[in-house]
Amino acid sequence: MNRQTCQEEDVLDLLAKTPRGTTDILPSASLLWQYIEGQLAEIFRLFGYKEIRTPIFEETELFERGIGEATDIVEKEMYTFADRAGRSLTLRPEGTAPVVRAYLQHKLYGEPQPIKVYYVGPMFRYERPQAGRSRQFHQYGAEALGTQDPATDAEMIAIPMELYRRLGLEELQVELNSIGCPLCRDEYRKYLIEALGPKADELCGDCQRRLSRNPLRVLDCKSESCNAVKVGLKSIHDFLCRECHDHFEQVKAYLDLLQVPYAINPKLVRGFDYYTKTVFEILYHDLGAQSAIAGGGRYDGLVEECGGPATAAVGFAAGMERLILTLEDKGWRPPIADCIDVFVAGSKEARTTVVDTVFRLRALGWSAEMDYSDRSLRAQMKSANRLNATWTVIIGEEELANRQALVRHMADGQQEAVPFDAIHDWLLQQIDNSCQGVKE
Ligand code: HAM
Repeated sequence: MNRQTCQEEDVLDLLAKTPRGTTDILPSASLLWQYIEGQLAEIFRLFGYKEIRTPIFEETELFERGIGEATDIVEKEMYTFADRAGRSLTLRPEGTAPVVRAYLQHKLYGEPQPIKVYYVGPMFRYERPQAGRSRQFHQYGAEALGTQDPATDAEMIAIPMELYRRLGLEELQVELNSIGCPLCRDEYRKYLIEALGPKADELCGDCQRRLSRNPLRVLDCKSESCNAVKVGLKSIHDFLCRECHDHFEQVKAYLDLLQVPYAINPKLVRGFDYYTKTVFEILYHDLGAQSAIAGGGRYDGLVEECGGPATAAVGFAAGMERLILTLEDKGWRPPIADCIDVFVAGSKEARTTVVDTVFRLRALGWSAEMDYSDRSLRAQMKSANRLNATWTVIIGEEELANRQALVRHMADGQQEAVPFDAIHDWLLQQIDNSCQGVKE
């Protein structure tokens, strides 16, 4: 094989693969996605959230400022590129900063508060791909801007928990913490630098760097060497100011009221600089290393940081792929039937009538399908079975001559002759007249 052919093969090989860390959601999987998205739309409606759709890319500055320059995401995980005019743009690694940008750009702070929005869509992070971690993944999430009410903090946990309840997921852990406001957190930062400073060289490389820039992140490092150094450290809860302490007590009280079980994890910090007060994660431990299926918290300083008025806010986001992995791990089957109402089968001579019948049925609201490759009637009946048709309309030569179709109920094989122009009315009269897409 010459060099050129070899290169050509490499290129063709690449063309037949998604880029590393990305996947296709094939038609066989998208019914499940749509089912979950349908449940979500209903839950968000009940909780009073309306959908927002922001661009897939934003000015890089928004994420640098919003998420924080010293965070893992900004330091090493962003897909940043210059456009043809030389602007630095970044594929969104998360949804909170874009929502804050939209809140400012459209002066939503001038409208009655709070502004409650939700989103579902792809996010991009240059991470090392592994099970449950990809470079393009999908989040659903919500943000409530313009309120400090601890009831909204509880709401952000209650929303994903309601979805999980509907999907029958029970073995989930909610971990909860407060990381205080800039005032009380600063005291804790100083304490951490003092307490950990003398043992800095026993910390892992990442935490040695974090110690001066963002010492709280040392708390949620899982490496063994760091764990040993952290034994006996005071908790953030010893430093919370009265307001942060009371806010946290109220969030816990609301979760108790809603009967959402949770565990306090004083080491939970999360990897964004914007958080204040409440932070939380929802975990499904059987997923292994990537066990967080949702996370969020309050960010009372971010709107101001981005140039807007002082605005309290809180939100969460959850991973769709990790949710689906969890459902698969539990052997969950979606209550969805992949089926159609009617398959119209016909002989070659009846082709025009078949096409006409299919299009008329579709226009009247029936999901209808036909054969596109000149197959025999027998093969067409097989297709009807494969597509899980509730009814098959058969138009052979004899039916064509009589202008009557044979309409067969596929479950029991019962069939009846029905005039062409009466099929719709006849189907309407049947009890089992349509494919039940979602079987509740
Ligand atoms: P996050 O914890 O970075 O928070 O992401 C939320 C969820 O997205 C995670 O719990 C996980 O399920 C999923 N996720 C994150 N990275 C990946 C990945 N590489 N592959 C697959 N799934 C992933 C945020 O993004 C914040 N914006 C949440 C928030 C909203 N806080 C306040 N408002």
